Amino acid sequence: MIAIEGVGKRFAGRDGGAVQALEDVSIAIRPGEFVAIVGASGCGKSTLLRLIAGLAMPTSGAVRIEGTAVTGARTDTAMVFQAPTLLPWADVLRNVTFPMRLMHRAGPGTEDAARALLARAGLAGFETRLPRELSGGMQQRVAICRALLQQPRILLMDEPFGALDALTREEMSLELLRLWTETPMAVVFVTHSISEAVLLADRVVVMSPRPGRVVDVVEIDLPRPRDFAQEASPAFQAAAQRIRAHIFRRPAAKLAA
Ligand SMILES: Nc1ncnc2c1ncn2[C@@H]1O[C@H](COP(=O)(O)OP(=O)(O)OP(=O)(O)O)[C@@H](O)[C@H]1O
Ligand SMILES: [Mg+2]
Repeated sequence: MIAIEGVGKRFAGRDGGAVQALEDVSIAIRPGEFVAIVGASGCGKSTLLRLIAGLAMPTSGAVRIEGTAVTGARTDTAMVFQAPTLLPWADVLRNVTFPMRLMHRAGPGTEDAARALLARAGLAGFETRLPRELSGGMQQRVAICRALLQQPRILLMDEPFGALDALTREEMSLELLRLWTETPMAVVFVTHSISEAVLLADRVVVMSPRPGRVVDVVEIDLPRPRDFAQEASPAFQAAAQRIRAHIFRRPAAKLAA
């Protein structure tokens, strides 16, 4: 469904230098698949999501969705950014329904659906609050509801739970899995957390630091529905260990020193 084909992204620096953020990245994502992307800070994870979302163009290679090259934002793709990006003057409910209204897709049931999502995200009673009256984690949950209300076929999430405390993070992970089971959507989920990636994903793509390349793709064969009890299982531990080994790999000389 999503074909990332030999994608490279180079940024021109202000001093005339350039940063090769991504190099020769190829990933094929199936409809309805849950793919997690992990890698060190600065390895190009957000850049890759922005390319899939059509918010930036690759400098080499191509991103195709069902065979069509992505050239701009698409109505069937929704993104949750690394930092919540809410409209400061609009209350929670209007923030959540905003893209639907913008796309002329809002109908009689839209507001009820938004309220239901907010309730599932633990935000019932906050519908008329402004973003500045919410904590960072609550704002991020509003941004997640905003993306889910669109019932996207492709959901791009950039460290969506980064601002949440550990408990809320676990709750939101399981809620996301439930929603994903109910809705046929492909999810591309960027995270720093190896255990979060293994818990959620069908496959985990491991990226190397600059330039960002795919160093491994780990199939996660744990049964679904998943829960945190599975973290103790040998299959979970093996997958997490394999990913960790890539991320913390050091040049041999450094290890010997
Ligand atoms: N608009 C831009 N202009 C110039 N350089 C950029 C731009 N966006 C990203 N970069 C560079 O590209 C590289 C990858 O950045 P990116 O934000 O994709 O990393 P990341 O993996 O999401 O990191 P983190 O985990 O910290 O969010 C970095 O070296 C960054 O400095
Ligand atoms: Mg990022």
